[in-house]
Amino acid sequence: MLRFIEASNAVRKELNEVENILKNIDEDLIKGASKEVFEYFFKNSGKYLRPMLILLSAKAIKPDMTIEQRVHLINLCVAVELIHSASLIHDDIIDNDLFRRGQKTLNGVYGRKIAVLAGDALFAKAFNILASMTTRDGEQVMTQVVEKMCVAEIEQAQYSEGSRKEYLRIIEGKTAVFMSACCKLGALVANAGREEVVALEKYGLNLGMVYQITDDCLDGDLNAIRNNITIDNAKEFVVKAELDVEGIESSIYKEGLTNLLYYVIESYDSKVKKA
Ligand code: FPP
Ligand code: MG
Repeated sequence: MLRFIEASNAVRKELNEVENILKNIDEDLIKGASKEVFEYFFKNSGKYLRPMLILLSAKAIKPDMTIEQRVHLINLCVAVELIHSASLIHDDIIDNDLFRRGQKTLNGVYGRKIAVLAGDALFAKAFNILASMTTRDGEQVMTQVVEKMCVAEIEQAQYSEGSRKEYLRIIEGKTAVFMSACCKLGALVANAGREEVVALEKYGLNLGMVYQITDDCLDGDLNAIRNNITIDNAKEFVVKAELDVEGIESSIYKEGLTNLLYYVIESYDSKVKKA
């Protein structure tokens, strides 16, 4: 957890701004009866891992942002966290899950109909933010990410006895591609060179693989078990991700990116011990 705190502290000011905007998004979004639904959802925020990836990647390239770049980054972070939220709301409907982040899911409290619509509203809000930005990067990258996430979810539902290769392709599509896109978008805002953009994109992809394999090992995911996937496979992706950012200049932001990697892999041991 210390590693996670260190990584988030490196971008604390920006993360607080993102959190503030998200906590008030229901006022801006929709009033009346639906307000309660959004308030309930945002009462229990996540870790802001994806906004952290955007901010740390950008600052690893360019520690001092212009005001315009900073505003651009904050807007990207808000949009990306809304898309992530929408995907979790829909994922819990698909998986029939009644608990997440220690509280009942929207489908558990308000039913599937309201939950589908709430996810759609957050999703629309996110793309409204991206569409209002000064460059098309956010919109272009995130529409491709969502397409890949949906395709991966369909594949997961269709091929319940898929091979190891299929398992890896599915987790790449449903989780890793999103994290990779966050790193890419942060790098683009910082005007990173081509090689740096690719390096951060690869780091994000490998971090995403670590994240989903760790989650699946902890949850006892059947596709992972069937394919003999263990935490050692996640460790292989940790090594790859470390190599990806080798060429990026040392800074607290780059350190933040490596801290995130270790936080994810170490969460396995701490959660297994607790269980
Ligand atoms: C979590 O997997 C699920 C995802 C990472 C992606 C879910 C994506 C969709 C439902 C499609 C995209 C939809 C929108 C609106 C963007 P999991 O069930 O293995 O993990 P969990 O333990 O967190 O539930
Ligand atoms: Mg799920």
